[in-house]
Formats: sequence, structure tokens, C-alpha cells
Amino acid sequence: MPILFERTSIKTMELKNRLVRSATHEGMADENGFPTRNLFELYEGLAKGGVGLIITGYAFVSHDGKSPFIGMQGIDKDEYIPKYRKLVDTVHLHGAKIAMQIVHCGRQTTKEAIGMQPLAPSPVKDKSLFVMPGEMTNEDIERIIEAFAQASRRVMESGFDAVQIHGAHGFLINQFLCPHTNRRKDKWGGSLENRIRFVKELYKQCRRQVGDDYPILIKINAYDNMKKGLKLEESVVMAKRMAEMGFDGIEVSCGIGEDGFSTFRGEFPLDVFLDEWDMYKNKNPLFRFMMRRFGKKLIKPLQLTQAFNLESAQAIKTAINIPVFLVGGVTDPAIMERIVKSGDVDYISLSRALIADPKFPEKIRKGSQKISGCIHCNLCAAYSICEPLQCYRGKKINRHVQLS
Ligand SMILES: Cc1cc2nc3c(=O)[nH]c(=O)nc-3n(C[C@H](O)[C@H](O)[C@H](O)COP(=O)(O)O)c2cc1C
Repeated sequence: MPILFERTSIKTMELKNRLVRSATHEGMADENGFPTRNLFELYEGLAKGGVGLIITGYAFVSHDGKSPFIGMQGIDKDEYIPKYRKLVDTVHLHGAKIAMQIVHCGRQTTKEAIGMQPLAPSPVKDKSLFVMPGEMTNEDIERIIEAFAQASRRVMESGFDAVQIHGAHGFLINQFLCPHTNRRKDKWGGSLENRIRFVKELYKQCRRQVGDDYPILIKINAYDNMKKGLKLEESVVMAKRMAEMGFDGIEVSCGIGEDGFSTFRGEFPLDVFLDEWDMYKNKNPLFRFMMRRFGKKLIKPLQLTQAFNLESAQAIKTAINIPVFLVGGVTDPAIMERIVKSGDVDYISLSRALIADPKFPEKIRKGSQKISGCIHCNLCAAYSICEPLQCYRGKKINRHVQLS
């Protein structure tokens, strides 16, 4: 039997294979953050398609941590629990497991989305959203840690098999870990030990709420594409600390909102940002003209390669003794099998490959060696600010974007 389809478990969570749907914002919650019928259908499709574990799109732990993207799920109130229980039951019916990813966006949101100035460890401007955040006080920090803890409890009470803390992609937790965004001089900033303190305190409070047996996973950045950003050397040490704290699994990703799309790579759909994102639509005509003309040269995206986070994940795997999830550009079944067999990582996480084809895991199980049909046009990501999740391959979108 291929190693990809071995049964494994992480504490109480038993998985039928090593294929994971990496958290992917679906834009399918209603305006109050409750899951809609579309989300039920999407997860049912993924579960039927054979993936072992579904990680939900990020859900906000408090209102000030919401993103500007439409249809984000909420987990900041107990009222959500009955609806999520039904969602979880739907997934379980088809033999898959489901974890909820929880987030606070920190500075990667807008005043329009949350009704106040976004908060962050330090007042460092986000150059992709043009947001200058306010520096968090100690009270803000304590309140948000408690919001994560209460959200974790709700995730468990809703019947999710695990909770995943979003510590990657430039959101609040990553903002504490990363020296570019954390310039604090108090106990929450400066040295690595100080920058990781937020995760340490947050983990303790979450664990207190969910008990010892419940899996708490975390997604982290190995690095980003910023000059003073997080580097692999430091993130390996951070991963080690997280394993010592008691986290049950680490998903290894990279990139932040303003670093030129390094989380995704592939096409950079600049025209969609300029035409569909309010913060760009509302910019003056000269800025828009210059961006259209020279934007791609300025942005310098990193190159898309197969399994582009593998080296980072390997480095982290050798430093820790808890499961490692690899995400980013993995589309080839033969490579997935080889990576897991070699012991480099324990799980393969897929986002865009499953947007393109939710049945991809089942096809692999049946012996298909065909790589995913995703062409990395990244329109799914660019449009997710205003449209529910879909694959745009073969769709005629607008005057700028036409795909084969
Ligand atoms: C439309 C879209 C939405 C995403 N939303 C999330 C999210 O909510 N949380 C998260 O951690 N990552 C999110 N990601 C990033 C993916 O989980 C993944 O890290 C990235 O796409 C690279 O993996 P891939 O090459 O398999 O797509 C999203 C990606 C896409 C394409």
C-alpha cells in the first residue's frame, strides 16, 4: 500500500490517509460568519473526494481580527456551535476528519472591515493594504489570547477533530514572530524568546480550554520575502520551541501579504487586484497606471517550483519530533509519495490542487499518477476578496484575464 494511504493518528484524531486540505478561505459564510449551504456542499465534496483531513478556511476569533474578504467564518461566539456541529457531521459521514483554522488578522485587515484601526504588535505599515496599525497594549494582547482560547474551546465543542492556530502568512501571530512586524521593546518583542512569548501564552490558554488529549496544530512561516523578515534559521528554533510547548503538529508554509505572493507563486494577477480590490480601486489614477505598467517588475515574486517549502519542512522535521505538514506547490502524486516515504514530512497539504479538483485524492488512491490540473493562475486567490471560492481555469473573466 502506498505510504500516502497509511492510517495514522494525531492524539484523538485518526486519519485514513496523509492527504490534507490546507486551510483555504472559502468566502461561503453569511454576513454574520455562519456557514452557508454552499460551504456544506464544498466540504461534502472534499470529504467524498477522499482527502483525509479538511482544514477549514480561517475563522476569526474576535471581530477586530476579521479580514476584509467576503464570507469569512466566525468562531467568536458560542452561537456558532450548533451550526458547526452539523457541518462536522456532514464531513464525518464520508470518512474524512475536519479541523478548524482560527485566526486574528492583526494589521492584515482594514478599518472598513472591522470598524476600527487594525491592531498589530508594532505600528508598521502594511504596504499591500495601505494600513497603518495601532500598537497593541498589554490589555489588547491578553484579550486576544483569551479570544483564541475561547475559540479553541468552541472548535472542540463543535466536534471538530482538531484546531489549527494560524501562525503563518503575515497574520497577527506571525506578526509577533517576525522581526519586520514586531519592533516592540517590551517582553513581547526583541529576542526570539520574547517574540515567541505570544504563541507560548496563547498555547497555554488554548490547552487549558481543550484538555491534554485534543490535537492543537499550528501553521507557521518558515520565512518570508522581506529584508528584515523571518528567516529559516530562526523558524527552525521557533518550531522546536512550539513542539516543546506541546503543539501536536506543524504545517510549514511561507510568505506574508506584502511580500510579493510568495505563499502562492505562479501568476501574479495584478489586474484583478487593481480592478477588484477596493484599496487599489480607490487609489489615484497615476498610481493605478504605474502599477499596471510596472507592478510586476516591482513585485518580484519568488519562483513556483514543485513542493517549494520542502527544504524548510525538512529542516524543521529534523529539529522536532511531532508531525510535520508540507504545503505549497505540491501537485505530483509520485513526488508526494516519495517525500513522505523518505520521512521528510508526515502529511501533504494541498490547497489549489483541491480547488481545481476535489476528487484528486481519490484518483491518487485508485492509482492515478496524473499531476493536478491547477495551472497556478491564482485567480482563486485574487478574487477571494469578493467572490466565493472557485477554480477559474477555462473561464473568461474580464477584459484583462483570459485563460485557456
Ligand atoms: C483561495 C485561497 C485561499 C486561502 N486561504 C487560506 C486560509 O484561509 N488560511 C491559510 O492558512 N492559508 C490559506 N491559503 C493558502 C493555502 O493554504 C496554501 O498555503 C497555499 O495556497 C500554497 O499551497 P498550494 O500550492 O497547495 O495551493 C489560501 C490559498 C488560496 C489559493
